[in-house]
Amino acid sequence: MKLALDYVAREESRFVDELSAYVRFASVSAQPQHEADMRACAEWLVRHCQQIGLEAQLHPTPGHPIVLAKSPRSAGTRKPHFVVYGHYDVQPAEPFELWQSPPFEPRIEGRSLFGRGASDNKGQHLAHLNAVEACLKTGTELPCDLTFLIEGEEEVGSRNLTTFLSEHQKELRCQAVVVSDTGMPARGMPALTYALRGVAAVEIKLTGPNRDLHSGIFGGSVDNPAMALCQLLAQLRDRRGRIKVPGFYADVRPLGVQERRQLARLPFREREYARFLGVPALFGERGYTPWEQRTARPTFEINGLTSGYQGEGGKTIVPSWASAKITIRLVPDQDPDRVSRLVCRHLKKLCPPTVRLELKAGHGGQAYLFSPTSTLARAALKALESAFNRKPVLLREGGSIPIVTDFKRILGADTLLLGLALPDDNAHSPNEKFDLDNFAAGMRLGVALWPALASAGVSP
Ligand code: BES
Ligand code: MN
Repeated sequence: MKLALDYVAREESRFVDELSAYVRFASVSAQPQHEADMRACAEWLVRHCQQIGLEAQLHPTPGHPIVLAKSPRSAGTRKPHFVVYGHYDVQPAEPFELWQSPPFEPRIEGRSLFGRGASDNKGQHLAHLNAVEACLKTGTELPCDLTFLIEGEEEVGSRNLTTFLSEHQKELRCQAVVVSDTGMPARGMPALTYALRGVAAVEIKLTGPNRDLHSGIFGGSVDNPAMALCQLLAQLRDRRGRIKVPGFYADVRPLGVQERRQLARLPFREREYARFLGVPALFGERGYTPWEQRTARPTFEINGLTSGYQGEGGKTIVPSWASAKITIRLVPDQDPDRVSRLVCRHLKKLCPPTVRLELKAGHGGQAYLFSPTSTLARAALKALESAFNRKPVLLREGGSIPIVTDFKRILGADTLLLGLALPDDNAHSPNEKFDLDNFAAGMRLGVALWPALASAGVSP
């Protein structure tokens, strides 16, 4: 292990250059104009994996390609098998004007590398690839077989990965999946995440008049779709964040006493948190702490609202239509399809007869929860401790990685979530960055992890 650890330390500046090259691809999965960038990025990744000694292939899908890369398999001996999952797609970089440097021109300042996708998720899975490179180049034997599964549709709900898992079920069967695509509660405080929220997305469109109308001539005699949408949405959540959809809380698993006690031990300073986010005051469901509110309770969010005139100056119109993109974060044991049906049914019931309602259910994913006391989890904790030189904490997180429940369902494997992102890494926000100390720690984690997991073996 020493040789591999020396290697990652020695090669760090080249690894940083490679991360910059990777971040340079504008691999925005949601935007059709980036399709060529997506493909070029996946091809770069395949070549990179091949160069470090993995057997790598690009797998086309009806959407964006999937990259699969395997460590060299030794003939005869059967080793435990682990899959490392990541995603090379990134969120849209808009609004561009808020970036201090262009999102796809990586910039290093101090120990941070700025660029869209730097921490979510390119830097995080590249750290694992670098660790494996170190093992292969220094003759450090990998005590297990590894398969890297890097997809290009995570940020749009992993539409084609489920089918891919079913089709490649045999070669992807494994003891566990390792994912570094979550966060740490604070710098220097490593964490094993044992729960993620699920998600259900719905797009709502209200249409009124067949064109934008003069609001002085016609306003008052027809409904205003923008106002109707606001009134509709306002009925779905109360002022404290309780969701007002009948049946919504039916399947929500309550938090256990033990767990609440453990979450209460995580660091939290209300004032500092509010200042960091620039809000005048915090908000949230009564009876729950902010940690609970943002990781273990369901929420209803409007992600985008569009209607009427958005340009400079004014325009006196009744807009023809108004639309909203919403997502609901889910917790165990809520089902995304059921929740999305409940929400749609309720919207139909509430919608006034003065506008036409169109609903489009989008991607969904179930919440994830697994036991942090399993043998594998304990082995992962040990590896985290050795990489960060500090005892890791157990975390629940509010974000979603929809595919992890499919890893369980299709591959029969639990997922170990070993996040390397910092709270101020600006995932999904302007000025996303990745911390280079965490990049280095991630590589040390990647070196220490495989011996720990392989010896933890197959026993649950
Ligand atoms: N890396 C995040 C998920 C995440 C971030 C989990 C922080 C826990 C803590 C992932 O890339 C992501 O953003 N997922 C989307 C999924 C959605 C588009 C279906 C999300 O959570 O919004
Ligand atoms: Mn993301």
